[in-house]
Amino acid sequence: MSRIAYVNGQYVPHKDAAVHVEDRGYQFADGVYEVCEVWKNNIVDMPRHMDRLGRSLSELRIDWPMTRKALEFVLAETVRRNKVHNGLVYVQVTRGVSRRDHFFPPEDVAPSIVVTARSASPAAADKQAETGISVVSYPENRWPRVDIKTIALLPNVLAKQNAKESGGKEAWYVDADGNVTEGGSTNAWIVTKDNKLVTRPAESGILKGITRTAVLDLAEKEGLSFEERAFSLEEAYDAREAFVTAATTIVMPVVKIDDRIVGNGHPGMVASRLRQLFHTVTDLKAV
Ligand code: PDD
Repeated sequence: MSRIAYVNGQYVPHKDAAVHVEDRGYQFADGVYEVCEVWKNNIVDMPRHMDRLGRSLSELRIDWPMTRKALEFVLAETVRRNKVHNGLVYVQVTRGVSRRDHFFPPEDVAPSIVVTARSASPAAADKQAETGISVVSYPENRWPRVDIKTIALLPNVLAKQNAKESGGKEAWYVDADGNVTEGGSTNAWIVTKDNKLVTRPAESGILKGITRTAVLDLAEKEGLSFEERAFSLEEAYDAREAFVTAATTIVMPVVKIDDRIVGNGHPGMVASRLRQLFHTVTDLKAV
């Protein structure tokens, strides 16, 4: 089946989907994005993703490319047209196309929008979760506004590639105080020896993950004890469990950090349970 992308008002074959060479996303990474999970023909937590998209746009003073309601329709329609039952839907908004100039373009330049969707195998992800992943620490080197979900991901690309070349699947950023901030494209969690879930507060140093918020809701619902506080790399090495969260991974157990085995080297009970129950607390919008 041929894939379809939505580009600036039109559904086009994926192979022909293109933006202008002077799109500000292309030239300046002047844009924002969201990735939502598609699960059993539902878009997961769309309201929260739309809220965060609105916040990212407003922090960068980029206009909504269309009404929120219309955008929700385009996301669902792109998922439908690609026959994605399980997978991801991606939306990117940039400040639009204009002659290259660092200053904002004239007011009449409309934002650009691209939406794509692709299938992913839940079975393959579950298989990965049965063994868990390794992460590799990396010095925090991003700008302080990582709370905005911008498409400027070069530091993340380099950190994740470093992890890959060291045999890992994800990078864990470590700040100047020795604390883990987050992953290259995930939020970071540990479970302490006394069974407390710990993740860094969303006030600074991280993107406030939608999956993270849902997992906190789930912890509350399940009566698990949790704490939003900074944790160090050393504490993570000695934790009972570790895991990462994102729309792309849901809850993915971490069994190794650098050259240190976490817990008994197998996915922990808490992470596995959170993964299993995850969709009981999410908003599900049928496509
Ligand atoms: N990444 N932190 C960073 C730096 C991220 O890029 C992401 C998501 C997260 C988790 O956010 P959420 O739970 O809302 O997916 C945390 C997306 C999935 C990506 O870049 O592919």
